[in-house]
Amino acid sequence: MEKEYILFIDSGVGGLSTLAEIYQRLDENYIYFADNKNHPYGNKSPEKLCEILTKIITDVKCHYKLKMVVLACNTATTSVIDSLREKFPETAFIGTEPAIKLAENLGYKRILVLVTKLTSCQPKFKNLVENTKKIGTIVKVLVVDKFASNIERNLIENSFLSNFRVLKNLYTIKLNSKNIDSVVLGCTHYCHEKKRIENLTGKTVLDGNFGVFKRVLTLDKQFALSKSFPVFMLSNSSKFTKQKYVKIFNQILANK
Ligand code: DGL
Repeated sequence: MEKEYILFIDSGVGGLSTLAEIYQRLDENYIYFADNKNHPYGNKSPEKLCEILTKIITDVKCHYKLKMVVLACNTATTSVIDSLREKFPETAFIGTEPAIKLAENLGYKRILVLVTKLTSCQPKFKNLVENTKKIGTIVKVLVVDKFASNIERNLIENSFLSNFRVLKNLYTIKLNSKNIDSVVLGCTHYCHEKKRIENLTGKTVLDGNFGVFKRVLTLDKQFALSKSFPVFMLSNSSKFTKQKYVKIFNQILANK
């Protein structure tokens, strides 16, 4: 039988935490596509993003049989998942959404949601926020300038400057976390800084990765017989960068 794959896509290292969440729980064949050439997605238009993702999915489909596509990226999910479903009606898509509902279900009443610029202005995201406000929960939306790119850089290059920029972003989050009781990470890149956000703000920090796992589980009708290490594909690949991605993924797994 031809091998079937679950394709994960993000603009970089962000979705690695999503992949790890599912990889550790489910025997499957995985492809991780890091579109680092087009990073960041957060400052693109939905039209451009749809064009980019259509090309990636079409190209991957030429070489691999896909079971489903996971947009391991809040920005792509909120802005283009519906268009992609229309373009590829035969493919199952799973998105990543800010875990606002999870926070609400856990009883949190004053939620700070961290998102990219593009996510912040998408109707899908705005509806999510408005519906939560209707039931009396306070939702504060914070667009953290270049946070995803700073994290991407810091993890790949680990330079003094990129680390300094991440620290500046973290300080902004700390300043905005007064009078709130939880922080929701509305961008998968931010998961890499989850521990530091928890320590700095002293609040509960939630991400949407477990929600993605539950969706994959619902849609996956037949698991693979065994787990194989993910295939890593980068749109801007050097041997060094690819090795870095694999290393980061292994570190996430080791810390779980
Ligand atoms: N990791 C992404 C997200 O969840 C995208 C970050 C970006 O490329 O701007 O939104």
